[in-house]
Amino acid sequence: MPIVRVTRRLHFSAGHRLHNPQLSDHENREIYGLCNNPGGHGHNYGLEVTLRGEVDPKTGYVFDLKRLKQAVEEAVLQDVDHANLNVDVPWLEGVIPTAENIAVQIWRRLERVLPEGMLERVVVSESERNLAEYSGE
Ligand code: NI
Repeated sequence: MPIVRVTRRLHFSAGHRLHNPQLSDHENREIYGLCNNPGGHGHNYGLEVTLRGEVDPKTGYVFDLKRLKQAVEEAVLQDVDHANLNVDVPWLEGVIPTAENIAVQIWRRLERVLPEGMLERVVVSESERNLAEYSGE
């Protein structure tokens, strides 16, 4: 059977501040610049979730993307949309909310609710220009 990858694109809006409490305020400003502003700032995040699998000969689908959308909404978007990622999301507690770290945590959330071995890639973008991709390594 052919193996095909299918992707669902989603969006969420959230605020964050990049700050490592183990570093001095000076170091934080040097590393994160404006992203370290105490009041935080917001992004319209893009999220891509890719699954990989055989095409079901009966449905012609690898996975029903409506079901994937539902799973991502329940496991991820419900918690992060219109949230402050530094304080509102239990599964981001203690995590510096960069796109990289958010992608890893979203992978871990989704891995638990999707059929084993199907999750292939999670991409989190903060803007058209910046994105982070995680594949479970
Ligand atoms: Ni930012």
